Amino acid sequence: MNLHIIKHPLIEHKLTMMRDKNTNSKVFRELLDEIAMLMTYEVTRNWDMEPVEIETPLEKMTGHTLKNSEITIIPILRAGLGLLNGVLKIIPKAHVGHIGLYRDPKTHEPVEYYCGLPKQMDAEAIVVDPMLATGGSSSAAITMLKKKGLKKITLMVLVAAPEGVELLNREHPDVEIYTAALDRELNENAYILPGLGDAGDRVFGTL
Ligand code: PRP
Ligand code: URA
Repeated sequence: MNLHIIKHPLIEHKLTMMRDKNTNSKVFRELLDEIAMLMTYEVTRNWDMEPVEIETPLEKMTGHTLKNSEITIIPILRAGLGLLNGVLKIIPKAHVGHIGLYRDPKTHEPVEYYCGLPKQMDAEAIVVDPMLATGGSSSAAITMLKKKGLKKITLMVLVAAPEGVELLNREHPDVEIYTAALDRELNENAYILPGLGDAGDRVFGTL
């Protein structure tokens, strides 16, 4: 299993506030933005570094900088937009592509309505979406990116259900999944339990 559950008191505290049904959209968005920054710190932990010679005001030294910061962040619309700015604050030079998918309310299958990717894709991408429920949306987005030739894809979600993790591991075993929580199960409408409700509606106040 390529699943990383990021356990950190700050993330858990903020996520608990987000789950609370009494948290309004303004606060929900702020918390999502903060968690996105904290998660990016973990997602990028193993990035390659290279030595670089610099001079401090006092002497020469060998420092280390990122070897390759060419990366594309792909939020899955709509709710993925809630994570985008937090990631960009940490990786400001990243390029951004957008994939629009919504779940059919009856079948829960993803329906594609938008794909706007940079003409020249970087070799690496991080797909961001707060929810990994059935896994259908993330899996479809990753399939689209692989068709464009992307080889290294990481998925960053806030809350995952076991069903979604299983699907991703079956259909895209090469993709590392980072989540702040692995919840219990899906309900009959394919919503995550205990979850946080409809992430898009809570981000954009369309409840
Ligand atoms: C939500 C969420 C994911 C998807 C997860 O989006 O943001 O994209 O559902 O469910 P899945 O794992 O079962 O595919 P939704 O389709 O509600 O669209 P929205 O972001 O526009 O609200
Ligand atoms: N999409 C959401 O926004 N929430 C869920 O619990 C499942 C899918």
